[in-house]
Amino acid sequence: MKRLAPSMLSADFSKLREEIANIEKVGVQYLHLDVMDGHFVPNISFGAPVIKSLRKHSNMVFDVHLMIENPEKYLQDFAKAGADILNVHQETCPDLEKTIGMIHDLGCKAAVTIKPDTPIEKILHVLDKVEMVLVMTVYPGFSGQKLIPEAMAKIPELVKIREERGLNFDIQIDGGVGMGNLREVLATGVDVIVSGSAVFDAEDPAVAAKAFLETFKEFE
Ligand code: DX5
Ligand code: ZN
Repeated sequence: MKRLAPSMLSADFSKLREEIANIEKVGVQYLHLDVMDGHFVPNISFGAPVIKSLRKHSNMVFDVHLMIENPEKYLQDFAKAGADILNVHQETCPDLEKTIGMIHDLGCKAAVTIKPDTPIEKILHVLDKVEMVLVMTVYPGFSGQKLIPEAMAKIPELVKIREERGLNFDIQIDGGVGMGNLREVLATGVDVIVSGSAVFDAEDPAVAAKAFLETFKEFE
């Protein structure tokens, strides 16, 4: 089953609880939470206290995308705040296997993320240890950028590797996905679709999210 993970980065921060309830009511499964530290990426977003406050008001899977240096230092805070999936960048983890082990020990699902210029060879050794792989199709830091097709080409490769090795991690895409390219994106075999601006910049995010979910049915 394909799942939608709207990125809260594009929501109206003055009414987050309402924004989240609005998409949850139409059946959105995941909430993508972009944590940025101003070091790994040139932008600062929000941290664990915001996630903790929202946790009480939502049953969606909290998919926490950590765009931060030294993620190990903060994993516990995010797990305590209510993260279901802790998503770390390969580029920030010198010992990826150790970081993934720490995430599992905290009772969360582990995901590994690669930037558009990071080849999949860098994560081959952990594909049997993670629940999800996130392929970034924009350079992390901002929503509303254009999808980089060369980065998306990694998805069918990962689908092939997953099949050959009999693994079962989910594949997620993040960056520049909207209704204009959604069918092309879904055709890659991706499982979880992140979308920020295409959902939360819409006049009614619930209507926009529903359009994504309806299109998913064509690929199931
Ligand atoms: C970018 C973030 C994305 C972003 C996606 O660094 O990781 O999750 O919010 O936004 P759109 O869908 O607008 O590209
Ligand atoms: Zn993200």
